[in-house]
Amino acid sequence: MTSPTAAGMEPFHGLEINALARALEAEGRDIAFLEQGQPAAPPAPRVIEAVRGVLDGPQRYTHFAGMPALRAALARYYREQHGVAVSEDSIIATMSSSSGFILAFLGGFAPGAKIAVTRPGYTAYLNTLYGMGYRPVEIPVSAAEGWHLTPAAIAAAHAREPFAGLLLASPANPTGAAVDRTQLGEIVAVCARLGVRFISDEIYHGLDYRGPSVSALEFTRDAIVINSFSKYYCMTGWRIGWMVLPDDILRRTQILQQNLFIAAPTLSQVAATAALGERDYAEAQKAHYAANRPLLTEGLRALGFGVDEGDGAFYAYADASRFTNDSLAFCKRMLAEAGVAASPGVDFDRVNGGRYVRFSYAGSRETMDKALERLRRFLKA
Ligand SMILES: Cc1ncc(COP(=O)(O)O)c(C=O)c1O
Repeated sequence: MTSPTAAGMEPFHGLEINALARALEAEGRDIAFLEQGQPAAPPAPRVIEAVRGVLDGPQRYTHFAGMPALRAALARYYREQHGVAVSEDSIIATMSSSSGFILAFLGGFAPGAKIAVTRPGYTAYLNTLYGMGYRPVEIPVSAAEGWHLTPAAIAAAHAREPFAGLLLASPANPTGAAVDRTQLGEIVAVCARLGVRFISDEIYHGLDYRGPSVSALEFTRDAIVINSFSKYYCMTGWRIGWMVLPDDILRRTQILQQNLFIAAPTLSQVAATAALGERDYAEAQKAHYAANRPLLTEGLRALGFGVDEGDGAFYAYADASRFTNDSLAFCKRMLAEAGVAASPGVDFDRVNGGRYVRFSYAGSRETMDKALERLRRFLKA
């Protein structure tokens, strides 16, 4: 019998911790959920109204690339937020950024191509690449350098082991590291020089605390840009996102979208179109994360974790080496004994992640307070 998983694939441990936590909750335990990057708030009220308004009509597939109204709203978004003209025809509405990765890899790269990612980096990058037969090249980033990926590190990694693509999230998960305008421009330039196709995961855009979010589209039309309504717009469960494609792979990616997915979910597209007009609501949610950020970071530090405030997103990637070198076992014990759910560092870094735990501060202030109090007792025991 062959293994059901491709070589290199690992479980998404954060999701498995979430499943364990839900099971405990179903048994009546009170759990502080900090293991997933999920906003506590629902989507903006107008988003719900917009969906209610179409519920009585037919609910058919949309255009394969997404509703024209959604793509027009996205083109407006790029004009207003980034000052760039993006053709509606180069946009594809996706089933969240997760399906965007599938389309980006299949649309942009030959089978088995090497694609570089940071270590630590988002769990699904390695697992999706391995699962689809691509070969990840990991570029280490360090706490000492604020977890930032530099052009020099990209060039050095490429000299060691040439790769065809580079996938980077800014702000990043799990570290919150974000590149500024100059740094992003340099990364785009080094990719162009090396002949590397850049995939920019912009899912945490809007959630930068140190300056405006900068899109790769401000520098190039050769990058594949992936984004999602999950985080900034509080719509994780709607599974809706989008991508902007360069001309040379647009047609191929459209054909993949047609055949793999037909179209993104219709109701979610209606919701997403409304959400783009509700940035004030999204900014109000961001203010909650901004208030949680020092609270959780300082609280964890006081307990003995090593952690700095990231530049963006809503995670504290905490050095837990005072307590463990087996973050998965530690997270399971913390959940069972303290009722606090967090993600083990091994989800993000298979080399050093045993010493790290990621806590999300996307939840409510009460959840942060409760988690810190429970951790205090747990670590003392
Ligand atoms: C960096 C990054 N990219 C993509 C995703 C996937 O999000 P979604 O599929 O909800 O768009 C996540 C989820 O946490 C993430 O952290």
